[in-house]
Amino acid sequence: MGSQQHGGSGQDTAASPRHRSDTTLRVNGTPRTLTVDNRRVLLDLLREDLGLIGAKKGCDHGQCGACTVLVDGRRVNSCLLLAVALDGCEITTVEGLAGDGEELHPLQRAFRKRDAFQCGYCTPGQLCSAAGVLAEAAAGHPSHVTDPARPSGEPVPLDREEIRERLSGNLCRCGAYPHIVEAVEDVIP
Ligand code: FES
Ligand code: FES
Repeated sequence: MGSQQHGGSGQDTAASPRHRSDTTLRVNGTPRTLTVDNRRVLLDLLREDLGLIGAKKGCDHGQCGACTVLVDGRRVNSCLLLAVALDGCEITTVEGLAGDGEELHPLQRAFRKRDAFQCGYCTPGQLCSAAGVLAEAAAGHPSHVTDPARPSGEPVPLDREEIRERLSGNLCRCGAYPHIVEAVEDVIP
């Protein structure tokens, strides 16, 4: 864990003070306090203010999933979330996905082994989304294809149909989908 850090972007300081708010986010385990333009979205804060360029801006409209990160362990489209609304939240980006002392998260190793990317543009979002999928299924959250007769709250087994459905919000222009599904299958506990 690092020490608290302060900072802000040139774009933010150009905004009137009443349009800015001090916001503290815990990003990949490190508290970061910034004076943020109230209109700034999380994706821009991560990429432009904190230099975490793993999450990508694909559509900027919540349609492609390239910007996916985890907020308090749940996957979100960071292009759609105002950063000031996340004050106090824990943010995990692809740069922080691996645990302490690990070079790569098991999903990253599986993506590499399965050749689950070509250009790699969608990959940080796919990885964060897949990490969210594993947690959601373990917590018993159903998807559109989960059998409604399953007892609620019990872990949902992740078969191929479940993985495809749950990752359907993450587009891959290179069409690496079959290998992405195989990579996620590899890390199912
Ligand atoms: S850039 Fe956020 S969903 Fe496409
Ligand atoms: S690997 Fe190129 S967009 Fe997915």
